[in-house]
Amino acid sequence: METVIRADGTGYSPAMRALIDQVRAAVRSDGGPGAIARGVAGVLRPFLDRHDLLLPVQRQADSTKYRQHVIHVEPDGIFSVVSLVWLPGQSTPIHDHVSWCVVGVHQGREHEIRYRLVEDGVAAHLEESGDGFNRAGSTAALTPPGDIHRVMNPGPEAAISLHIYGADIAALGSSIRRCYYLPIRDRAPTEHGGA
Ligand SMILES: [Fe+2]
Repeated sequence: METVIRADGTGYSPAMRALIDQVRAAVRSDGGPGAIARGVAGVLRPFLDRHDLLLPVQRQADSTKYRQHVIHVEPDGIFSVVSLVWLPGQSTPIHDHVSWCVVGVHQGREHEIRYRLVEDGVAAHLEESGDGFNRAGSTAALTPPGDIHRVMNPGPEAAISLHIYGADIAALGSSIRRCYYLPIRDRAPTEHGGA
């Protein structure tokens, strides 16, 4: 397979075309969103250290905010592949997703903070439910609901990750279902004082 580069610089490396072929098979296998996402994560993992995976345009950053490059949308919209590029210090808002989502870190590292939405019938707030530093080569599979998180690049180098979503990201513009601009509170202690 040869590299395909369109006039605007977008296109596919041979490695990306091989990845897309394997994702297509995984997405069309039997199983619910969780099983599909786990299968796609397994497909993505061996490609993450391929330095020929992304075209130069798909690695470009934006000095003002993290940047999304849509690499592929399946013709029937059943899945999309994008690269996200963060410069040190850049962050997403706190958000969740429109569909299952698989993330694989290609370069650098990303700090993910996960949250739980707490609603008491009158008001709502967020509680932090965990966090982790995801290094190059690591994958994670997210399945809504309960996938509220924020991702940032703690530095020192640019971070690039591949994201595969079970939706048409070109039509939607983003994988984000909703952003959460809510107070963040410590988790309330239980009656017995347990964690
Ligand atoms: Fe996300």
